[in-house]
Amino acid sequence: MNRRDFTKTTLVAGAAVASTGVRVLAADSPRRIRTGVIGCGSVSNSYLPALTKSPYVEVVSLCDIRYERAQKQGTKFNVAKTYPHIDAMLAGEPFDFLIDLTDMQVHEGINRKGLEAGKHVWSEKPIANSLAAGQKLLELARKKNLRLWGAPITVQSPQFAFMAQTLAKGTLGRVAAAHAFYGHEGPTWSAFFYEKGGGSMPDLAVYNFTSLTGLLGPAKYVSAMVNIVTPERTVGDKGRIKVTEEDNAMVLMDHGNGAISHVQSGFNYFNPHGHSGRDESRHTIQFTGNAGYMGLVGYDWEPLGVDLATHKNPKLERHATDAKGYVWQQGGALAAECLSTGKELLATPEHALHVLEIITAARESSATGRRITLKSTFKWPLVG
Ligand SMILES: NC(=O)c1ccc[n+]([C@@H]2O[C@H](COP(=O)([O-])OP(=O)(O)OC[C@H]3O[C@@H](n4cnc5c(N)ncnc54)[C@H](O)[C@@H]3O)[C@@H](O)[C@H]2O)c1
Repeated sequence: MNRRDFTKTTLVAGAAVASTGVRVLAADSPRRIRTGVIGCGSVSNSYLPALTKSPYVEVVSLCDIRYERAQKQGTKFNVAKTYPHIDAMLAGEPFDFLIDLTDMQVHEGINRKGLEAGKHVWSEKPIANSLAAGQKLLELARKKNLRLWGAPITVQSPQFAFMAQTLAKGTLGRVAAAHAFYGHEGPTWSAFFYEKGGGSMPDLAVYNFTSLTGLLGPAKYVSAMVNIVTPERTVGDKGRIKVTEEDNAMVLMDHGNGAISHVQSGFNYFNPHGHSGRDESRHTIQFTGNAGYMGLVGYDWEPLGVDLATHKNPKLERHATDAKGYVWQQGGALAAECLSTGKELLATPEHALHVLEIITAARESSATGRRITLKSTFKWPLVG
């Protein structure tokens, strides 16, 4: 990925400069943000190529409690400083931006340590283990004039922009319903995906929750059923384990404006393409209104186009097939671009925390049989 690809992706010019204290430089001399990456497992293989190619990033240190992983990625991506513990990393080579790619359960503590040490933070999902804890982290960031962001970045894609604009124009008429799905047979490498604080919702449904709330507005109410379909699994790091967090979820969201949406997601889904999104040709997000239908081709994290049919043009027509440089792996690199240039991401921490509340509300709804009223919200619409 080169600089042109980065600037083609949907970033908006922002007034973030004063609030972050980051200097804006001329576009042809970007400031490289000194970056430390913690967590050198599977997803680091997707992040590090994007980070090391970005003109806005200088990866200066890597950390993993399985130290050999940090060393291996250090050699592969030419990063001199590697550490076996966050405390050593924070006390070592100076940097400004922490990218957290660790297990879901430890994000909250690591993100807090990063902010307390004066680092801007990009976190893989989720930012924290609860809405309240996530809001405290955001408060801490604001108090210290730092930025905090969380994956995913599905709202940055050109296909998201096309769908948002189509809905805003009223092309589908009154939108009544939306349905989204994402699943595969589950990660095979690490136990944390199946343990308390993990689960298929923060790993997979999180993408659909982000897209649907980004397109239809913040959810007001959540009703859900979640369960465990496969009670035991064999995984690379721990062998045979008991599954103690949901691996199957059906979640309804009422967006308070007439639209009710549904997300179906889990770790027990036959998928001939495995973890790859490139060959997915189904409509994984569908919108139905009284004047039209819209279907996202492929997954929202790797979208391939948008099909649209209306009363006027009832035959499905494909739009927005150009990714324009968008790839799901570039969240940390885009955040660094924001720190360097003062541009803003459409992906906000408030939105990520709203999605986190949807996840915890879905679990509560399933456990109690009640519809849950949500407390959090975020600035919407995202695309004008
Ligand atoms: N693997 C993917 O394709 C993928 C894609 C998108 C998002 N994610 C997300 O990325 C995160 C990591 O997933 P993964 O698949 O890379 O898992 P992984 O198990 O492969 O890697 C996690 C790494 O974090 C390290 N780690 C754990 N606790 C640590 C700590 N306290 N300090 C330092 N290092 C620590 C582990 O040793 C491990 O190497 C998760 O939030 C996951 O949902 C993964």
